[in-house]
Amino acid sequence: MQFAANEATMKSPYTEAQDIAHARALAGTASPVRDAANDPDLPVYMNEVYDWAYVSPRNVRWLDRNIVVKTLLFGNDQRLMRAYLERIRPGMRVWQVAHVYGDLVRRAAKRVGPDGDFVLTDVTPVQLRHARKKLDDMPWAQTEWADAASFRAPGSCDLICSFFLLHEVPDAWKQRIVDNMLAQLPEDGEALFVDYHKPAWWHPLKPVLAVVNRLLEPFAHAVWKNELSYYATYPQDYTWEKRTVFGGVYQIVSVRRRKA
Ligand SMILES: C[S@@+](CC[C@H](N)C(=O)[O-])C[C@H]1O[C@@H](n2cnc3c(N)ncnc32)[C@H](O)[C@@H]1O
Repeated sequence: MQFAANEATMKSPYTEAQDIAHARALAGTASPVRDAANDPDLPVYMNEVYDWAYVSPRNVRWLDRNIVVKTLLFGNDQRLMRAYLERIRPGMRVWQVAHVYGDLVRRAAKRVGPDGDFVLTDVTPVQLRHARKKLDDMPWAQTEWADAASFRAPGSCDLICSFFLLHEVPDAWKQRIVDNMLAQLPEDGEALFVDYHKPAWWHPLKPVLAVVNRLLEPFAHAVWKNELSYYATYPQDYTWEKRTVFGGVYQIVSVRRRKA
């Protein structure tokens, strides 16, 4: 697989190498290689920053549970998932750009049903193995080993959803993922981003989240700073509807093609 960023079209002022160096500096880790699970086919940030969370099969076994998602999202998991699930109607074609721990992918595919198509992409093989098991009894649900930044959906999609992916990837990838999702939106399709957002100044969790970002999520601060439309090369061609929940900690952004 080819994961190299196309630097000629990047809006981010940083190259991928600078993004990674920045992440390492923030996380205070100098060593790029941490254990044997390190996989040369993954985007470099997966091995260098998220190896423990998404790549190491032993950890993934422990983490892939609803209670983990509920805890990480401070109990907001169901309302954030509902924002996605309620948009799915039977018979739709849905592309979910990355795996999510717990039962979300299963619930999404179930809502699509046998008259529709559900495709889940992910860059990490162990994540796809877990997803495949969850979707085994639903033949209309496909899993594909692919980067959300370059995957081409086989047909046009009614709904394309990124659920907490953007804050985890370097800026260069944010731009490529947003552009790729939008490029595949048909006239009446919708792209949905559910992700972190800058908390209101008074939010008691703001300092906690700032420390978590600093130590574990080095690419997340960018979604506090920038609107998601910043990552689109042609934002003016789309309508962007944002709503925030939990005192601004999370955002739900719906994007559609602007009608001519
Ligand atoms: C959706 S994000 C975070 C979700 C959330 N923290 C959870 O509870 O699972 C995590 C997933 O994104 C995947 N991923 C990271 N970069 C990706 C990319 N460029 N394309 C597709 N999947 C990607 C990882 O392999 C991982 O399975």
